[in-house]
This record gives sequence, C-alpha cells and structure tokens, in this order.
Amino acid sequence: MRNFTCWLILAAAAPLLLAQHEKDGKDSKHRFIGDPVAIEAGRKLFANGCGACHGPDGKGGRGPNLRERVFWHPVEDDTLYNAIQKGIGGNMPAANLPEDQAWQVVAFVRALTAPAIETPIVKGNPEAGRALFSGKAGCANCHRIRGNGGGLGPDLTNIGGTRALPQLREAILDPESIGAANYRGVEVAMKNGQKFKGVARNRTNYSLQLQDRDGNMHLIKMHEVSEMKLSDGSPMPRNYKDRLSADDVDNLVAYLRDQSMRPYSRDKK
Ligand code: HEC
Ligand code: HEC
Repeated sequence: MRNFTCWLILAAAAPLLLAQHEKDGKDSKHRFIGDPVAIEAGRKLFANGCGACHGPDGKGGRGPNLRERVFWHPVEDDTLYNAIQKGIGGNMPAANLPEDQAWQVVAFVRALTAPAIETPIVKGNPEAGRALFSGKAGCANCHRIRGNGGGLGPDLTNIGGTRALPQLREAILDPESIGAANYRGVEVAMKNGQKFKGVARNRTNYSLQLQDRDGNMHLIKMHEVSEMKLSDGSPMPRNYKDRLSADDVDNLVAYLRDQSMRPYSRDKK
C-alpha cells in the first residue's frame, strides 16, 4: 500500500517535473558560458588547439572567421560543443577534450560574438573609463553617449549591446580593422567660398551628405564643389595604441561594455 501511494505521487508529479526540466533546458546555459574564468581558460585552449586554423584570436585562416557576424550564424551551445568534440566533416579534426575543457572552449568562442554586456569582465574600471572617455582620450569629441558628446562618429549609447568585447578593444586599438566605408573623413571647399569638414555619408557621384562635428548633416552637391579631400579611412585616431596605457584601454572597454539600452545589473551573469 505504501509503495502504491508513492507511485501515485510520482505519476502525478512526473509531468510537472518534465515541464520544469524543459523550461530549464531552454533558458539555462552551461555554467561556463559567460564565466570570465572559464573564458580565460578557453582562450588558452583555443590558442593551442584551434588557433592554427582559426587564428589565435578567432579571426580566421584555414578555418573560418569565428568573430564576424556576417560569417556567423546562430548555433546552439550544444551544437558548438559537439562540433568541437567530434569535428566537422573531413575539414575540422575532432578535439576530443575532457568535457570541462571543451565547455571552456565553447565559452570562449561564444564570448567572441556575444554582446559585450553579456560577457562579464575581469579587468577594467568603468568609472575610470568614463573619465578617460570624456577627458584625456577625447572620445567624447566625436562620440555621443546618452545625448552627451560630438556627432562625427557613431553614437555609442548602445555599443555594449551590439558589439562583442574583442570588437570594442579593436575599435580603439586597431580602428582600420573595423569597416569605415560610411565614415570617411572629408574636407570640402564650395565654389561660393563655404568650407565644410566632417565625415562623408551616403556619397554618390552627384552628391554627398557631410556630417560635421556637431552631428549636423549638410547636403553637398558635387557641381557646387570647387575642391574636395577625401581621406582613406575614418577620422577615428590611429594612435591610441601608443597614447593609452594597457590599463586605460581596459578601463575604456569596461565603460563601453556597460553602454546598453537593456536594463542590466553588474552583478547579474
Ligand atoms: C585543421 C584545422 C582546424 C582546427 C585545428 C580547428 N578547426 Fe574549426 N574549422 C575548420 C574548418 C576548415 C571549418 C569549416 C568546416 C566546414 O564548414 O566544413 C571549421 C569550422 C568550425 C566552426 C563552425 C564555423 C561556422 O561558421 O559554422 C567552429 C565553431 C569551429 N570550427 C571551432 C573550432 C574550435 C573551437 C577548434 C579547436 C578546438 C577548432 N575549430 C579547430 C578547421 C579547423
Ligand atoms: C576624431 C573623431 C573620433 C575620435 C576622437 C574617436 N572616435 Fe571612435 N570612431 C570615430 C568614427 C568616425 C567611427 C566610425 C568609423 C570607424 O569605424 O572607423 C568610430 C568608431 C568607433 C567605434 C566602433 C563603433 C561601432 O559601431 O562599431 C568605437 C567602439 C569607438 N569608435 C570608440 C572610441 C573611443 C573609445 C574613443 C576614445 C579612446 C574614440 N572612439 C575616439 C571617430 C572618432
């Protein structure tokens, strides 16, 4: 009799337990995903076991670039795990790592593309970054965050929600690596003597939209132009690598990471 009641209770509870499990399975991630220590461990494993084909920083080589979203399609964490462990077709060898290490690699690969705001950081102080941004580093001359700053460069109010951590770092240290097609520096002298300076947006053979430092757009008709100088790239300074210390860069990245339209608390994973 006792046993029987027990089974009854189990039978009643089973569907509930199953439903709960399914729900967990959908939203819950492996504990290493987004965990800074696991990501660091994964970075080393990746450099050793994957870097030869995918580049030490995941930018590609014999194997595809794992960072650029254009080449990236959404994959479940489990799929990634299996691809790493078992290999892909004849093109990518199986890694056969101990389970924990394979998940560390998954966590690292994820962090290459996950929005920065979802990746906790170990280094950098956002408050110090904020001071640099609007002070010594001069970023606010060109970038606006929540309404403050210049209009020459893109608005960075939501940059932590749209770019991954490595992209934020690279934007500062290696601006040429980020596509600047729509932000080439331009200086224009008009036939009527007016002069404009800024970035060229939406340029055609007949006109261009020139965006100045204050963010104002000027429609420039090419037949009214007497002289135009177009730079090779964007006006984003190329020398931050030399001007900023490693700590400065960490602080700036930490500050940019926090810029997101999504509500977020720093303690939450
Ligand atoms: C010998 C070279 C080589 C090594 C080593 C290697 N890969 Fe690959 N990887 C490839 C190639 C080639 C592809 C493309 C396979 C295909 O699409 O058929 C690939 C594909 C992938 C993909 C899928 C990319 C996509 O957009 O679908 C991921 C993720 C990946 N590799 C991660 C890793 C990780 C993590 C490691 C280390 C544990 C690793 N790879 C080791 C060559 C390699
Ligand atoms: C003289 C103007 C100027 C200054 C100063 C400047 N930037 Fe930029 N920045 C730009 C322009 C223009 C772009 C867009 C074109 C490009 O990507 O190069 C850009 C791009 C970026 C991006 C990439 C945005 C995206 O959507 O991916 C980030 C991040 C960034 N800057 C951060 C900074 C930081 C941090 C500083 C200060 C250390 C800084 N910028 C200083 C003009 C500037």
